[in-house]
Amino acid sequence: MQHVGDEFHGMLSASPVMHRLFTTIERAARSDAAVLVRGETGSGKELVARALHDLSPRAGRPFLAVNCATLTGDLLASELFGHVRGAFTGAVRDRKGLFARADGGTVFLDEIGELPLDIQPRLLRVLQEKRFSPVGGSESIRVDVRLISATHRALRREVQAGRFRADLMFRIRVAPLFIPPLRERPEDVELLVRHFMRVLSDGARDLHDVAPDALAAMQAYPWPGNVRELRNIVESALALGEGPVLTLDDLPPELRGEPPPTEVDALDATLAQRERAELIDALGRARGNRTRAAELLGISRTTLWRKLRELAIDTRG
Ligand SMILES: Nc1ncnc2c1ncn2[C@@H]1O[C@H](COP(=O)(O)OP(=O)(O)OP(=O)(O)O)[C@@H](O)[C@H]1O
Ligand SMILES: [Mg+2]
Repeated sequence: MQHVGDEFHGMLSASPVMHRLFTTIERAARSDAAVLVRGETGSGKELVARALHDLSPRAGRPFLAVNCATLTGDLLASELFGHVRGAFTGAVRDRKGLFARADGGTVFLDEIGELPLDIQPRLLRVLQEKRFSPVGGSESIRVDVRLISATHRALRREVQAGRFRADLMFRIRVAPLFIPPLRERPEDVELLVRHFMRVLSDGARDLHDVAPDALAAMQAYPWPGNVRELRNIVESALALGEGPVLTLDDLPPELRGEPPPTEVDALDATLAQRERAELIDALGRARGNRTRAAELLGISRTTLWRKLRELAIDTRG
């Protein structure tokens, strides 16, 4: 095995399931089989795709990626297969697509579950015949690419719902790889926290350790955003907190077991605080005389009364 200890092509893990995945990646990299990487958002699908390419005989050739969820219809077809001049409005010259540019290398189709039905036969043809035609063109071009795709969805369900062709599903997942979510590998939480503390500490704050209660909170948290979410939390602790130890106070409310404040609540609270401070200040300057305080604030006496009551300001004494 090429991986030493808990690191594999930028991926850290102490989990046996992940170590088995690393070994499978090494094996799959040797072949040209189409790989489908499944995993929740932020679990490392892109890292797996890159490792597959870097370990493959195609490593010296291009690795080109496109996210199928960000482009629709004609634009996506043109991105993948190119187009000929005049194919549609705005197509003023021929354009090479991703498959042509990746010849000899790897194409990574992220969010493959979002691939529109009308483009699916074109992709099937590339996989079956290693041929495609640019949008608006009749010429058939030969390419040699390896396909890696990724999805956070169960493609089988997309097939059942009629949104994905079954024949294409079988073609793209000759080698299926699954990345377990972070909550299913709690042994990785400490490893990743320490890793991100090390690589993200920047002088403004240097984190050297993590408090036991903070670590316990992180190990108990379900991490819907997986490794990306964990990285963001360390990053925000570095930006907002102080001291060399990551503490419970550094963690966002949802990790401390509190419901997160909604933005509106937080804004309301800030405004109320500011208004309260202004009212108390005016009352102080008016030595408790409400008519004078209302004048200082430029509001009527009744408005002042109402605000004092709403903000529960005690003016006696
Ligand atoms: N095992 C790991 N070790 C270190 N860093 C990791 C690991 N897994 C993921 N990351 C980091 O977490 C972030 C998210 O990873 P990546 O972009 O590969 O996830 P993804 O599954 O493609 O997410 P999405 O579905 O949102 O596209 C990246 O910054 C990546 O470097
Ligand atoms: Mg991704």
